[in-house]
Amino acid sequence: MSFDLVFFGGTGDLTWRKLMPALFQAFRHGKLPAGGRILAVARDERSDDEYRAFIQERFAEVEPSKRPSDEEFARFAALLHYRRMDLSQPDDYTGLKVWLDSRAADTKVLYLATSPHLFPVICEQLGAAGLNGPDVRVVLEKPLGHDLASAQEINRVVRSVFSEAQAFRIDHYLGKPAVQNLMALRFANALFEPLWRRESIANIQITLAESIGVGTRGDFYDRTGALRDMVQNHALQLLTMIAMEPPSSSDADAIRDEKLKVLKSLKPFTAASVARDVVRGQYRAGTVDGKAAVGYLDEVKVPAGSRCETFVALRTEVQNWRWAGVPFYLRTGKRLAARDAQIVVNFREVPHPIFPGTTRANKLVIKLQPEDGLELHLLAAKGSGQGDALSPVSLDLDFDKAFPTERVGAYERLLLDAIAGRLNLFVRSDEQEQAWRWVEPILSAWRDDGGDLKTYAAGSWGPPAASALVARDGFAWAEEQ
Ligand code: BG6
Repeated sequence: MSFDLVFFGGTGDLTWRKLMPALFQAFRHGKLPAGGRILAVARDERSDDEYRAFIQERFAEVEPSKRPSDEEFARFAALLHYRRMDLSQPDDYTGLKVWLDSRAADTKVLYLATSPHLFPVICEQLGAAGLNGPDVRVVLEKPLGHDLASAQEINRVVRSVFSEAQAFRIDHYLGKPAVQNLMALRFANALFEPLWRRESIANIQITLAESIGVGTRGDFYDRTGALRDMVQNHALQLLTMIAMEPPSSSDADAIRDEKLKVLKSLKPFTAASVARDVVRGQYRAGTVDGKAAVGYLDEVKVPAGSRCETFVALRTEVQNWRWAGVPFYLRTGKRLAARDAQIVVNFREVPHPIFPGTTRANKLVIKLQPEDGLELHLLAAKGSGQGDALSPVSLDLDFDKAFPTERVGAYERLLLDAIAGRLNLFVRSDEQEQAWRWVEPILSAWRDDGGDLKTYAAGSWGPPAASALVARDGFAWAEEQ
């Protein structure tokens, strides 16, 4: 199957930091279909060779095991092309069409890795140039809007040019191997399904913690904040994967229908419940990984006195028969104690403990980062001859060890899926809009009353109020258990 892959925003950070390295990995692993062309488009004038040299230089910033040797890069670079385009100029799209039509690739994947405010104009121009035929797919990178109205406007324009089946909305968390394994765990194994409900599960915690700060993205981040950057998309997508009903098939829409139902079942926020159930925080100076870290307000390009949140913890519920009353806690933040993304399913305690001493509920930990694995925490007898005392133990599955040669990174997987036309791991417009609808009352509560902005030291697990949120229900975050 031959493909042409076009990156709008071809010299931007996303392209050289994530997309090119991912494509190179696919190429190195022999997974990239043969006969492909990769075209980067951007504003400035450069030749193909100059662009290739630009990408090769940028590879120096990629982790060493993922860098190409000169010989590997030379082979990969043969696929790379560059084209100057002014994205507001219809003629430039006609030129692009001529370039693409110079051969009949089976698939044309147009990846919008630009600032999202350009999405409408790019889509309209693509449509006007006839670059929206059935062989065309459009890939949209987040952020897709900054609230419900702006997301709906982007979707309206996209839909006026492309069908839903042509639109690939990326949430790169869905490409992470652990997330696909969550689907396998739930729907390819009969073991957990009978337990996957309110009768057996006490609470579910989703933590997306980063130890990095906002780096040089202070201006972007300050307009965005953790709620829009991580909760509306990544955290909610993980929640849907945990809470969804078994789909009737593995078709993209069968899966996405079930995810949408979860989003629609989320308990809506009111101003009062935002004040009670959402904690909003911003980091102050502290120590991360043994190094001093400045506070958010001292990061470059962050406006003085900013009240932007770099941390969110919240409590919600999925209002249906399976989950009624089970708290779902979501938490994300920058400059936290560790880079740690995980979902913890805390089971209920035994109804009648007969062993003295330790009682501890079972938990299943689905680890996304830094390593990718599963841990099932149990209690076991040590057999040390000291009465019936029990010890916590865990069954650990390390996927990198289990499948040492086959692991594929999130962007690699999603790019290959976009080329192959598999929509399962992409977000449908109604899901995305529903997620915005749910987040809106939080945004407006914060806007209306300024919200209570807590602070936390860089290198901690966030404001104490985040612990109190969980403690109120008689529970604790995983690291406090
Ligand atoms: C992005 C956010 O979507 O996800 C970033 O915009 C964040 O702020 C990143 O750092 C985290 O992704 P990952 O894969 O490194 O956990």
